[in-house]
Amino acid sequence: MTEPELVVHFTEQDAARELRADVRAGLTDRPKWLPPKWLYDARGSELFERITALPEYYQTRAEHGILSRHAVDVAELTGAGTLVELGSGSSEKTRLLLDALRKTATLRRFVPLDVSESALRQAITAIAVDYPELPVRGIVGDFTTELAAVPAGSGRLVAFLGGTIGNFPPAERARFLVAVRAALRPGEWLLLGTDLVKDPDRLVRAYDDAQGVTAEFDRNVLRVLNRELRAGFDPDAFAHVARWDAEQEWIEMRLRASRAMRVPIEELGLTVELAAGEEIRTEVSAKFRRTRVEGELADAGFELTRWWLDDAGDFALSLATAV
Ligand code: AVJ
Repeated sequence: MTEPELVVHFTEQDAARELRADVRAGLTDRPKWLPPKWLYDARGSELFERITALPEYYQTRAEHGILSRHAVDVAELTGAGTLVELGSGSSEKTRLLLDALRKTATLRRFVPLDVSESALRQAITAIAVDYPELPVRGIVGDFTTELAAVPAGSGRLVAFLGGTIGNFPPAERARFLVAVRAALRPGEWLLLGTDLVKDPDRLVRAYDDAQGVTAEFDRNVLRVLNRELRAGFDPDAFAHVARWDAEQEWIEMRLRASRAMRVPIEELGLTVELAAGEEIRTEVSAKFRRTRVEGELADAGFELTRWWLDDAGDFALSLATAV
């Protein structure tokens, strides 16, 4: 077995510094917000795993269905030598791609990129056991800035699955796609998962499930702030809200204060005041139409090669080539 490599471009200290800057910016702004990436500590990642199994949350199953049907097409069309996976939480979907690429015998290495060193270490260890001949090089980094660390050559396929691109606001999304394109050479590939615009009631239910798992996931960000920044939030004093913004075509998650409160954030020397009913936006999750995906890819220098849907037409997987 080839020992997996792990390169750390983003340390715990970097993360701590970024968390402090994000929380200060978001909680002193009006309306208040927090970036969704801080939802995913160990408990948050576990809660997200539970979300993916909920009856209301169709996305993970839908994308898995598309990949089980089309991973071989991806392998044959791209003939990729390097699979780069951004935000590689989804190891089961990765395996579908690795299996297909192994069949076409083009794959030379696997490069998963994630912000979480512990999650990445676990993932590459498991992959190394099941794919003993495959060189694996994990990169710990923020995928919006660290793409340049991905080694060139052998035909790269960058996979960004799960619909996570929907978490970027439009301007950031455009910058992200340009950064991916800049890291690639003409003829290399991007595989992108996007959730699609649909009945708003279904979308709201997907982000506000009957069992309350998403609500717990949302409130978890306050626990992260309590622990990492010695903040004084009472998570139970916040209601989870999921709202469809028809103009932006995105879902928002918010935490609504059930009463007025003053919350100390010791590490920042900051006290945050919330009025009764005031909301903190914790996530946007954009939903797409084909024209938008195709247009945004084109703006970044990609040409859409294939557009695959699941049977219900809920979710899309795009294969695009750098032009
Ligand atoms: C992991 C970012 C794709 O936006 O649907 C799930 C996260 N938020 N339920 C999404 C999430 C609420 C998820 N992504």
